[in-house]
Amino acid sequence: MSRVRVAVLISGRGSNLQSLIDAAKAPDYPAEIALVVSNKQDAAGLQVARDAGVLTKVISHKVFGSREAFDRAIDAALREAKIGLVAEAGFMRIHSEWFAKTWEGKALNIHPSLLPLFPGIRVHQQALDAGVKESGCTVHFIVAELDSGPTILQAAVPVLLGDTAETLAARILMEEHRIYPEALKLVAQGKVKLDGGRAVFL
Ligand code: GAR
Repeated sequence: MSRVRVAVLISGRGSNLQSLIDAAKAPDYPAEIALVVSNKQDAAGLQVARDAGVLTKVISHKVFGSREAFDRAIDAALREAKIGLVAEAGFMRIHSEWFAKTWEGKALNIHPSLLPLFPGIRVHQQALDAGVKESGCTVHFIVAELDSGPTILQAAVPVLLGDTAETLAARILMEEHRIYPEALKLVAQGKVKLDGGRAVFL
């Protein structure tokens, strides 16, 4: 079975990266984690990758004069590693339109809310402040706008009385670790495609 080569883009802890690495250990999983790119030298997720024997690359956004120049450097690393799909997992940079277009239908992101609610940062506090009874997580195809794009999978969790941003985040994170490997599998198998601005299940 030929497996799709996946790059995971991170900026921090790497728990979603770990869940993807773990899922890809199954012999019938249709993707392999071939590269991890971080924009931060000190991202804890880099160690997660090294422990799993995955090639890592640090590309700091700070040394580039524009979003697109940074994105072109990432693109070059992806091409060099013969990457077929990109999975962003806590990668906290906004992409250029050029990158979104170049990787259209081949780049996924996970966000810890039921998009289109609560994009951006301080997501769990946004959910608590809004008083919603449910929140959750979304895996979506990447488009140029931040935390937006056709939904591949979502999972909901209850918001409980007395929740803090931390307790809600922890409940949602468990669902992230479940649906991200599932969504990546569907895309790698060609069972979900971006078509006409929607995620179409075939
Ligand atoms: C995850 O909760 C992910 O959904 C979120 O960052 C966290 C990264 O954790 N991503 C975003 O907010 C993207 N807008 P991790 O490094 O342990 O996977």
